[in-house]
Amino acid sequence: MQIEGTVALVTGANRGLGKALVAALLEAGAAKVYAAARDERKISAGDARVVPLTLDTTKPEQIAAAAKKAKDVTLLVNNAGVMSSNNVLAAGVADLDADFRTNVYGTLAVTKAFLPALERLPGGATIVNVLSLASLASFPALGVYSASKAAAYSITQALRPELRAKHVDILAVLAGPIDTDMVKALQMPKTSADDTAKGIVAGIERGEEEIFPDPMAQQMGALWNKSPKEYERAFASF
Ligand SMILES: NC(=O)c1ccc[n+]([C@@H]2O[C@H](COP(=O)([O-])OP(=O)(O)OC[C@H]3O[C@@H](n4cnc5c(N)ncnc54)[C@H](OP(=O)(O)O)[C@@H]3O)[C@@H](O)[C@H]2O)c1
Repeated sequence: MQIEGTVALVTGANRGLGKALVAALLEAGAAKVYAAARDERKISAGDARVVPLTLDTTKPEQIAAAAKKAKDVTLLVNNAGVMSSNNVLAAGVADLDADFRTNVYGTLAVTKAFLPALERLPGGATIVNVLSLASLASFPALGVYSASKAAAYSITQALRPELRAKHVDILAVLAGPIDTDMVKALQMPKTSADDTAKGIVAGIERGEEEIFPDPMAQQMGALWNKSPKEYERAFASF
């Protein structure tokens, strides 16, 4: 999909990667970007093409209202995500639920709400799910988060053939560590949110079903293609 002239919606657009994605989409020529956030007052003003939108992806009434308001979306970017709990053995159901509620159920609920409008577009539409290298094999130290991102990847794959028949592409972003609040406590090499966002936009324009947007993602993606088992082992000590 060419970004020039598209109408995009980015969830979790007030900070981190979502904010950078809004900027990258504008830079690439998007006609309008709905910048969705739990608190739309946190969306920075500046470009007349940005339309702030209130959207907590775990709140059905807000999802329905957003889909009603933003009927002209051609590119839906499911970016909102959380990393609330990590150790699988220490996690209770409530901990698991915290990550699954946003990363899995929220992403699916937003997708379902926007699909009727996306399916009607004569020129087709694109959905982008912002996932992680942890979707492909668990980072044990981030086990619960990894499980949620793996589930979201599985759902992305489940939707792909059904949506393709309706001219809606669904792309998975398998990102490496990004320098945002989410992983600020983790000491490791990270790519800036701006560079990651540019890598994602380039992947959308190339129509890649799996987008590896940063150098670490590209390196690990090559390993995953060569040997999923070696890929799993590479993260086992993480
Ligand atoms: N950082 C990384 O290393 C990394 C790597 C791979 C993939 N990712 C993925 O990239 C995406 C963006 O993460 P980030 O690194 O930018 O994290 P971040 O800095 O923590 O930002 C998360 C964003 O998601 C929003 N959000 C969380 N729960 C939400 C909900 N229920 N409804 C609506 N918005 C919600 C947050 O809004 P509030 O400000 O209201 O909390 C915030 O805007 C996530 O899906 C994450 O899993 C991150």
